[in-house]
Amino acid sequence: MSFPARRMRRLRRTPALRRLVAETRLTVDDLVAPLFVREDISAPAPVHSLPGVVQHTRESLRKEVRELAGLGIPAVILFGIPARKDAEGSEAWNADGIVQVALRDLRDEVGDSLVLMADLCLDEYTDHGHCGIVRPDGSVDNDATIDLYARTALAQAEAGVDVVAPSGMMDGQVAAIRAALDGDDRTDIAILAYAAKYASALYGPFRDAVDVTIAGGGDRKGYQQDWHNQREALAEIALDIDEGADMVMVKPALAYLDVIAAARARFDVALAAYHVSGEYAMVKAAAERGWIDGDAVALEHLTAIKRAGADVILTYFARELAERGL
Ligand code: PBG
Repeated sequence: MSFPARRMRRLRRTPALRRLVAETRLTVDDLVAPLFVREDISAPAPVHSLPGVVQHTRESLRKEVRELAGLGIPAVILFGIPARKDAEGSEAWNADGIVQVALRDLRDEVGDSLVLMADLCLDEYTDHGHCGIVRPDGSVDNDATIDLYARTALAQAEAGVDVVAPSGMMDGQVAAIRAALDGDDRTDIAILAYAAKYASALYGPFRDAVDVTIAGGGDRKGYQQDWHNQREALAEIALDIDEGADMVMVKPALAYLDVIAAARARFDVALAAYHVSGEYAMVKAAAERGWIDGDAVALEHLTAIKRAGADVILTYFARELAERGL
C-alpha cells in the first residue's frame, strides 16, 4: 500500500482547525489610516481614483478620526492640501498650516486614545510638486531641503503630533529632524522613517488626492529608490536607524515583500509597510468590474504584508477592515 508520508490536509479540514494553526493574523491593532485634509473646502471631496477616500474638511476629519478611534484603529497619518503652494512649500511649517490646525483639532477630539502621525514632506506644498527645493538645473537640493524638513517637524511637534514621518528620501533627513526635535526638547516625538521608499508608479492616485503634478512631467527618480534594488534598501534602512529612526518603512508593499522580509530578518526595530494608493485602487477597480472579490483580495494582500514581516501597515482599507471586525 502506498500512502503520503505526511498528511498536510488534516489540519485544514475545518475552519476551527485552520484558525487554531494560523501563523499570521491581521488585526486592527496593526493598521494606520492615511487621511487627507484640505484647506478651504466646505464639504468633503471624493478622490475619483481612490473610491471611498475623500479630501476632508477640518470638521469631517474630526468626525472620521473619532469614528476610527471607536473602531479600535490605533493610528492615523495626515496629509495636508494647502490653499496656497509656493516654491519652498512654506505652508508645511506654517504654525497655522492645514496639518498643524488639524493636529490641534484631533488632539482635542481624541486625546491620547489614538496615535497622531503626520507625513513630513514638501511635495503637497510646493508649486512644482517636488519633495524639496529645486535648483535652476531642475535637481533637488538635498541639504537646503532637510533644513525645511526640520522646521516642519518643529511645527508638527508644536501642534501635538506623536510621530513624524519623513517621506522625502533626502539623505540625512532623519538626523536633521531628530536634532531639531531634541534641540527643542521634543525628545518624546518619534520618527517613522520612510526609509526604503521606491520611485514607484503606484503613487498615481495619491497624487490626485493631494493635487500634485510634478512640473515638466518630471519624476522622483533622483531621490526615491530604484526598484531594481534590494540591498540598497537595507543600506537606507541601516542609515535611518543610525540617524535615529524609531520605526522604518518599506513602500510600496506588495511588490516589495522581499524587502520587507529581508528588513525584518536584519533589523530589530518596528517595521512598517505602506500599502499605497495604486495598490488599493487596483483592488477597487477590479472589484468594481466584478472581476475579483475585493474584500477577499484586500484581506489576502494585507495579511501577506504582515506575514512578510511588517508590524505596522498603512492602508486605505483600514476603516473597511475594522468595520468587518478583523
Ligand atoms: C510624499 C508621499 C507620497 C506618498 C506618501 N507620501 C507620494 C510620492 O512620493 O510621490 C504616496 C502614498 C500613496 O501612494 O498612497 N509626500
